[in-house]
Amino acid sequence: MIRICPSILNADRNNLSAEIDKISSTSDLLHLDVMDNIFVPNRTFSLDESRKIISETSIPVDAHLMIADPDEQAYLYAKAGAASVTFHLEASKKPRETIAMIASEGSRVGIALKPDTPFELLAPLMSEIDMVLIMTVEPGFGGQSFMGEMMSKVTKARAEIDSKYFEKIWLQVDGGISLATIALASEAGADTFVAGSAVFKAANPGEMIELLRAAALSN
Ligand code: DX5
Ligand code: ZN
Repeated sequence: MIRICPSILNADRNNLSAEIDKISSTSDLLHLDVMDNIFVPNRTFSLDESRKIISETSIPVDAHLMIADPDEQAYLYAKAGAASVTFHLEASKKPRETIAMIASEGSRVGIALKPDTPFELLAPLMSEIDMVLIMTVEPGFGGQSFMGEMMSKVTKARAEIDSKYFEKIWLQVDGGISLATIALASEAGADTFVAGSAVFKAANPGEMIELLRAAALSN
């Protein structure tokens, strides 16, 4: 099972609903990058803007929180109706409590790892989560180059998931995913792919999602 999650980070913000319409029939989840200008040097959607997007779109929303205080804020995105809420392990002081609060609102729970964070730090929490997000760029901006050296982390996470958790845990990659890189990530074991610029810079974003899906399945 392959899932493609277009990121609206670099879509046209002034015409967001038209941009989302372009990808709604072919995408699995809508990836919403929330940045607070503290955890990362960029600010994107506020909680209110996120609520509006979540309530107005028909696609399940995959919220990726790049914020400094997920322990206080993450469950609010679940409460707002995000299908999945992912927070960064590096930003959380009490990940178990935060996982439980998100789950109690009925959302899937993801934990994200920045490129320098080893997979081993996440191993003790794996039985409590629904998705691992391995960043393939430094979080903060769209349009960066895919870090191929992250594939060994993806392989490690895949081995752990296959030996203990099977299909229950999705393995997501985010950053620099394109027709040139998606097969590498899929070969390493990712099953859920975020793509921002590759989708929204394409002449036909909806069709690009199908091309990415085919490329992910081709290895
Ligand atoms: C980066 C974000 C990504 C970004 C991906 O911090 O988490 O989701 O939008 O954009 P591309 O696909 O352009 O790397
Ligand atoms: Zn993201």
